[in-house]
Amino acid sequence: MALTAAPSYAWPGMGKINQALVKRKDGNDDGSAPRELIGDLKTTPAGQWTEVGRAIAGIIMGDISGESDEGGKYKLPGALKTKKCKSDECCVWGHVSNWLTTQFTAPNGQCNDYARASIRMGFHDAGTWAKSMAAQGQDFGGADGSIVLSTAEIKRPENKGLEEIVGKARDWAILFGVGVADLVQFMAIHAVVTCPLGPRIRVFVGRMDSSRACPDGLLPGVTQPPDDLISLFEDKTIGPHDLAALLGAHSTSRQFFFNESHSGEPQDDTPGVWDVKFYGQTLQDGPDGVFKFQSDIALGNHPRVHGEWMSFAGPGGQDHWNEDYAVAYTRLSMLGVNNINRLTECTKVLPPAKKGSGGENNSKGKGSKGN
Ligand code: HEM
Repeated sequence: MALTAAPSYAWPGMGKINQALVKRKDGNDDGSAPRELIGDLKTTPAGQWTEVGRAIAGIIMGDISGESDEGGKYKLPGALKTKKCKSDECCVWGHVSNWLTTQFTAPNGQCNDYARASIRMGFHDAGTWAKSMAAQGQDFGGADGSIVLSTAEIKRPENKGLEEIVGKARDWAILFGVGVADLVQFMAIHAVVTCPLGPRIRVFVGRMDSSRACPDGLLPGVTQPPDDLISLFEDKTIGPHDLAALLGAHSTSRQFFFNESHSGEPQDDTPGVWDVKFYGQTLQDGPDGVFKFQSDIALGNHPRVHGEWMSFAGPGGQDHWNEDYAVAYTRLSMLGVNNINRLTECTKVLPPAKKGSGGENNSKGKGSKGN
């Protein structure tokens, strides 16, 4: 059901969000339909949204920031699984956060292979929902943990390389006693803030888990034509601008299986840093040792993506990209979630963002658990 009344995103405590980051709406200059609501935000009148529902609506519609630059102040109320800890719903996530910081940080302070794999795993769980299928009664898939909980998904070719991190997510969900759908998205968001220059994206928990394998064929392929890729993402309610922002995750990626003769090669020459080099390097020659995906080149050159892509590569691009990635990833992490109004915000447990690029060029090397 479409909503007619203009929603209000004000909520108690809004002043705590860094107002300087409240973003301008991107111009709708790429022929896209306006951003749309998803899940129970679409089916519940705006006047009945909860505080969290209003915050998430504000973020995914591009009206308020998806970042929060506080952090590092949270004091755990108690040890894991104690009464004191259970008195704060976010306490367990504080323990998860401390754990992930050690798991995702390379010795030089950059983010490592587990961080990279977690970002990809978050996408491969959440990105498996389609508006057109939901409209035909197939409203399943999305950010439901099924990449871990179903036995089928991890065997699909598009998930090759994710076996180890999926196993870790399964083990850690049991270790900490948290939901898998939430943990998969928490890992993806935590991984980003672990990378130098990465945004501190607001984090919400309380999703429903599902062991039902998601629909097949909803994840993108490197050799698909760019128009098909744009349509695939539009069917997830993700327009070309948000797609341009999400693809920047390849700033911290390495490919292992797409072309095994170049296994371990990164998609820019600083895969341990969340910088904007990926955008420029994808559309230029070289540098040596960087493996570019055909889909990234084609989308970066596509008229509906190119302007936004180049604005990320240019002056001020880092802040612009971080803001847009936070908005686009929040949307992605809510696909297929139909209890958005009942989620809880636990942003306070995330560590502070690492503002310096902290590390030298590291395009060489096969990765292991290093940067
Ligand atoms: C057109 C869309 C996309 C295509 C075709 C694509 C394709 C790929 C491929 C082929 C790999 C290498 C896998 C391997 O061989 O090991 C990869 C890695 C990766 N992708 Fe994407 N991807 C897309 C979008 C995204 C998005 C939206 C995100 C996150 C928001 C993402 C995050 C990553 C990350 C972090 C890695 C590195 C994983 C690692 O280093 O272990 N990708 N992608």
